Amino acid sequence: MAEIRLEKVTRRYERINAVASVSMTVRDGELLSLLGPSGCGKTTLLRLIAGFEQVNEGRIVIGSRTVSSRDSHVEAEKRNVGVVFQTYALWPHMTVAGNVGYPLKVAGVDKTQRRKRIDEALDTVGLSGMGKRRPADLSGGQRQRVPWPGVWS
Ligand SMILES: Nc1ncnc2c1ncn2[C@@H]1O[C@H](COP(=O)(O)OP(=O)(O)OP(=O)(O)O)[C@@H](O)[C@H]1O
Ligand SMILES: [Mg+2]
Repeated sequence: MAEIRLEKVTRRYERINAVASVSMTVRDGELLSLLGPSGCGKTTLLRLIAGFEQVNEGRIVIGSRTVSSRDSHVEAEKRNVGVVFQTYALWPHMTVAGNVGYPLKVAGVDKTQRRKRIDEALDTVGLSGMGKRRPADLSGGQRQRVPWPGVWS
């Protein structure tokens, strides 16, 4: 894993500061939990780190690379950041394994490696053995844990 550094990161939606001048460092290998009341900006912060949102002010650095700033934005698919979405975004016609493996397929990872990474990812979130099911055949909590495996390398 790489260190993640946020320097005075601000994200505005119209007049709301969803994230207001947040600075923090998550060290290599560190596990960090964000706790706070509903609407305080937790999801927005994670979306900024993953690259689904652009910062209005400040800077996000992953490893030695600036991925977000006022005038630069590295696309989400080029950041190698894994996400488990709060509101799940699964393709209903694909199996769980198909959903997990899709970004790896797009990235050109070969089938054997893909299978291994899918199994590891499912194992990590407590879904081993459920790869052949469709999302409709999982519980709500299981569906929410289906990962997008950017970091499982
Ligand atoms: N696309 C958007 N447009 C306008 N306002 C938004 C948008 N997304 C989030 N917000 C607002 O930004 C603030 C932070 O939202 P965010 O989703 O980051 O909260 P959260 O801490 O994850 O909350 P919860 O615990 O309820 O999931 C909230 O006031 C929310 O209404
Ligand atoms: Mg949230």
